Amino acid sequence: MTTVAVLPGDGIGPAVIAETVKVLEVIAPCIEYVTVPVGLASLHTHGEALTAENLELCASCDAILFGAVGDNGDGCQPSDSLGKLRHELDLYANLRPITFYSQSLCRVKDISSFDILIVRELSSGIYFSTQEKTRNAALDVMSYTRTEIERVARVAFSHAECRKNRVTSVDKANVLACSQLWRETVSTLASSYPINLSHELVDAFSMRALLFPHKFDVVLTANLFGDILSDTLSVLSGSIGLLPSASYNVEKGYALFEPVHGSAPELESHLPNPFGAILSGALMLEYLGMNNEKIALEQAVHRVIAKGFHTFDMYGKPEKEVTTQKMGDLLVAELNLTE
Ligand code: IPM
Ligand code: MN
Repeated sequence: MTTVAVLPGDGIGPAVIAETVKVLEVIAPCIEYVTVPVGLASLHTHGEALTAENLELCASCDAILFGAVGDNGDGCQPSDSLGKLRHELDLYANLRPITFYSQSLCRVKDISSFDILIVRELSSGIYFSTQEKTRNAALDVMSYTRTEIERVARVAFSHAECRKNRVTSVDKANVLACSQLWRETVSTLASSYPINLSHELVDAFSMRALLFPHKFDVVLTANLFGDILSDTLSVLSGSIGLLPSASYNVEKGYALFEPVHGSAPELESHLPNPFGAILSGALMLEYLGMNNEKIALEQAVHRVIAKGFHTFDMYGKPEKEVTTQKMGDLLVAELNLTE
């Protein structure tokens, strides 16, 4: 039996996760779900955003499906729960595919196609080092070891081998010591892979990727840069609400799937785009060995979008703007149609 820990979380998390589970139940009825409180829901009942027992429960499941956390207030920080999961389970490789849907959804003019996979280092860097704050000063340390860089680079290289064999490593090596070690390590490792490696500085890359996205294939980068670049490149797909992500530590057997967007606590719960979460569910199906189901789900998403259905956030003149729940229903109908 396959068991998935479901952590809906805060803000729009529960709404997008409800649609995801609804759709997954149609396409992969064999999966069992265990709901785990995270964020405010956990803080209110257990006094912390993610308890040690629930972290253990997540670790014992075959995969983790995560919504979003953060309440914009003084409740709890994402680092108390999501950060804890990423760090404790050592989920070092975060995959964020940026997909082309159509010219009308793409906010940049004259783009006819692209297919980018961001591989973001997720369990180290500036997110997880020394942090101090006093009234008038603050400190965040960025740190990387050669081993941390090598293991995420290997993931990027092996994905590139199944794609166009191109890896762009993005850093800030003209300023940061971490980036200098990053560049050196990635270059050395690349010599034992049949891939084309290039290096770009993050400032120039962010501009070039928006202008010429078809030139890029796999983009390998550190934690903070990957966070920023995934939001930036989402304008090429049509909305950040469309972007899925998968975070892996394959060696330890842990995998977490979550949309790239945040909790957007100000947004009414019938409005969010469920596709980021649903497509994360598709990546989860692939990880769980259900590749045909993954492809069927992704194709169904493309067809629903091609039929002109949008949630409010998607770029282009909304032909048929629908609610979160309606989008889930449309996808279920689309899947039933092809069965
Ligand atoms: C993301 C998010 C998180 C991050 C936040 C919620 C901590 O923005 O997954 O992109 O910065 O990694
Ligand atoms: Mn982010």
